[in-house]
Amino acid sequence: MADESRPVHVLMVCLGNICRSPMAEAVFRARVKEAGLDDRIVVSSAGTGRWHVGESPHPGTLREIGKHGLDLVGKTAQHVSDYDLPSVDYVVAMDTDNQRDLGGDALLLLDFADPPSGIRSVPDPYYGGGFGRVYELVDAGSRGLLAHIASDLGIDQRSRE
Ligand code: 4NP
Repeated sequence: MADESRPVHVLMVCLGNICRSPMAEAVFRARVKEAGLDDRIVVSSAGTGRWHVGESPHPGTLREIGKHGLDLVGKTAQHVSDYDLPSVDYVVAMDTDNQRDLGGDALLLLDFADPPSGIRSVPDPYYGGGFGRVYELVDAGSRGLLAHIASDLGIDQRSRE
């Protein structure tokens, strides 16, 4: 995994790939870039459901990430079957249903939350909204996940700050 000849691949997964996992893709990518690790870590996202394949991210997700200066230019929803999951280094589920639907081997984003979130699943904002809360959770999860992956890669993040 720590083969420097190819970047590690992080795949963020939710149900529809229009709300939570594209947000996680944008936020995690920003953290990776800030850490100067964009040549070592690449991120994409997909959904376990097919309903929205080909669609742009949800306006609530685009609005929320826009508030934080992020974007998702060109992102359209994909299905997890677009990826060869065994060859993905880190498959990261947004909630426990996604994790189960992926076969149980996937990581859970909020298990890495820094500060700890006290919950395991990023709530689905598709029907009820709450994109600001989703952002907070995804942001905390992304920080902790990056520290975890950097450690796996043998990178001391503190010495790079
Ligand atoms: P996401 O949200 O999994 O965060 O992208 C959803 C998007 C669509 C649906 C459910 C959740 N849906 O039922 O179509």
